[in-house]
Amino acid sequence: MMETQLVGMLPDALLIDLPEIDAQHEEIFCRIEALKAACFGSGPAPLEEFRSLLDYLKHHFASEERIAQQTGINFAAHAQVHRENMQVLRKAFSEVLDGSRDVHSFLRYAEYWFERHINVEDKPFAASVREVRLNFTTASPQVAPSF
Ligand SMILES: [Fe+2]
Repeated sequence: MMETQLVGMLPDALLIDLPEIDAQHEEIFCRIEALKAACFGSGPAPLEEFRSLLDYLKHHFASEERIAQQTGINFAAHAQVHRENMQVLRKAFSEVLDGSRDVHSFLRYAEYWFERHINVEDKPFAASVREVRLNFTTASPQVAPSF
């Protein structure tokens, strides 16, 4: 595992105020930054770290889906976007492996995708989660929310 040492690097504009998800976004951001740094030189690209990033994204998507399930939010459309994201990112990585795409191109794509994922998918998701939690708290003041 690559040591990233980039704690607190996620730009404020990308925070969505769901601590578990913000922490995962921070991890993804740091991994992409670390890969950019690692690929800057002329040495071999750390392909295992790219695979590890894709695995981590799968874990991240599963976390978002679990939170949606716990909160009772309809996540079908968002889950479909996650599946498409994984397909596109895996395809881009397979192109790196077969030599038809370079690592920098992959990383530019991953960076662009990541910001879009937060701004277009996760910010509205976080707003829905907050709304449900707020309504739950207002409707049942004696019962502590379990989430
Ligand atoms: Fe996310």
